[in-house]
Amino acid sequence: MQAPRGTFDVLPEDAERRQVVEGHVRRILGAAGYRRIETPTFEATELFSRGVGEATDIVRKEMYTFDDGGGRSVTLRPEGTAPVCRAYIEHGMHKLPQPVKLWYLGSFYRREAPQRGRYRQFWQVGAEVIGSAEAATDAELILLLAELLEALGVRETRLRLSSLGTPETRAEYREELKQYLRAHEGRLSGEVRERIDINPMRAFDSGDPGTREVMAGAPTLLARLSGEDAEHFAQVRAMLDDADLRYELDPTLVRGLDYYTRTVFEFTSDALGAQSGVGGGGRYDRLMEQLEGPPTPASGWAAGIERMLLATGELPTAPDLVDLYVAIADQSAARRAFELARDARRAGLGAQLELAGRSLKGQLKQAGRLRSRYVAIIGAESEISLKDMESGDQRKLHPAAVIPTILRGSRLS
Ligand code: HAM
Repeated sequence: MQAPRGTFDVLPEDAERRQVVEGHVRRILGAAGYRRIETPTFEATELFSRGVGEATDIVRKEMYTFDDGGGRSVTLRPEGTAPVCRAYIEHGMHKLPQPVKLWYLGSFYRREAPQRGRYRQFWQVGAEVIGSAEAATDAELILLLAELLEALGVRETRLRLSSLGTPETRAEYREELKQYLRAHEGRLSGEVRERIDINPMRAFDSGDPGTREVMAGAPTLLARLSGEDAEHFAQVRAMLDDADLRYELDPTLVRGLDYYTRTVFEFTSDALGAQSGVGGGGRYDRLMEQLEGPPTPASGWAAGIERMLLATGELPTAPDLVDLYVAIADQSAARRAFELARDARRAGLGAQLELAGRSLKGQLKQAGRLRSRYVAIIGAESEISLKDMESGDQRKLHPAAVIPTILRGSRLS
């Protein structure tokens, strides 16, 4: 049997690399005052249809939706922002000092066509700042993601930045864009033409040559922003400039989720293939109200763990530390060997026990493979031979002296 299409196993060596990612996330976001939150893997379907938007690809065709057995429709979470907002409302977090700064790391599910960097179950790390409309919030979030990508050695990154303004400005702009698209209908791809009414903005995303040509001359939303939205965006840009973070203004940046207002951004990596988006996000000032919460401005991002790992070079992982390998020279010593390994672990040492019934020679070889610092050989007699694997020195010790000797790092010659 094989794992389902678009899913993968996290093998031990992969788990170690992920651990390194998580360590950087904790350090970088923790130092900036973000606290971890985890929401359930599935939620009421309505949370996403309302939050992410009925017209999005995610809601239209990518959700894993099922009946929970009691007539309620639930969905495996395709993203984390709507669930975090639901939790903010449900737990009355508006009563906490604002803004509330949160991060999460977990698995998400989208029924997309699988390819390199695009899976049906994938992991995201996300950060959300709820309760602040300040441009500084957006700038800080972007800088934190940039710092994370740099710490992980994600190569050839580029930052695309834009602003979507308010839903009202966008509605007016959408009408203008629809008219423009209709005027050039003949040169658009079938898919784009079909969706002029549902989601005209997606036309900017099309890879079709004819559509691209048409879109090159299309009106942009960035040029239609209201005074306040334009000012907010100018502030975000000024802060990124001050921090020397380079970005490309991209008025065609469309995100696959409907909740965005004002700032939107995406980091891509040229080291990846077609699926080049490593992380992205933006401001979502109206989402909380859509979910029947109090009006609360917010901003955030999420980055794909697999894509970050694909775009990174060698990621140094901490080697598993084995201080002691307990070898069994005589079966009568099995229990004492077990106890020695247990006591060593209690004393804070990394200790492994022979579990495969190897010959003594085979056990020493295995200890070498694990790069254990010491081997304790336990036989029929009560004394234990402790061997320093680096120097090759070996000495017989009273059982009670083995762990203190290792802890002191004493010479055995
Ligand atoms: P998103 O752009 O849909 O945003 O996803 C964020 C990241 O998740 C992407 O940049 C990509 O690295 C990764 N990702 C998405 N889909 C897949 C997939 N099928 N396979 C592998 N990786 C994938 C969001 O999800 C928003 N919730 C971000 C956000 C937070 N906006 C505001 N706050």
